[in-house]
Amino acid sequence: MKILIVNGPNLNLLGKREPHIYGSRTFQSYFDELQAKYTGHTLRHVQSNCEGGIIDALHEAAYGSADECRADAVILNAGAYTHYSVAIADAIAAIAPLPVIEVHISNVHAREEFRRHSVTAPVCLGTIAGFGLDSYRLAIEALLDNQ
Ligand code: DQA
Repeated sequence: MKILIVNGPNLNLLGKREPHIYGSRTFQSYFDELQAKYTGHTLRHVQSNCEGGIIDALHEAAYGSADECRADAVILNAGAYTHYSVAIADAIAAIAPLPVIEVHISNVHAREEFRRHSVTAPVCLGTIAGFGLDSYRLAIEALLDNQ
């Protein structure tokens, strides 16, 4: 399976950013571990601090002309855009039936009120939140189980 992981704003700072919430590990070191674990699958990772960059990655996963951009499924951590980006929600709907799993490192439901609402969750296959970086692995397992 070709799985694209899309990380949104501020997730490039994992390891440095609020480590009491997001941990002290960089995403690249975690991603290397995931790739070593899932050698039978192709994992790709893109990160963008811009709404448009996330939308472009989603479009390319479904409709990209370059083979390496396309994916069978997407794991999306849209960061704060989760809570208000109708444009990203529309992009997820626009690439259906490509499955998208929403992921959060922190338990967004145990934090500030505004983080409890996701505009993207209704158009995703499902949501995994609160397991630290392991949320991404759990999303991969869910995708593999749902093939
Ligand atoms: C996050 C939760 C969001 O509320 C926050 O804006 C993030 C990270 C998470 O992974 O826990 O940037 O998506």
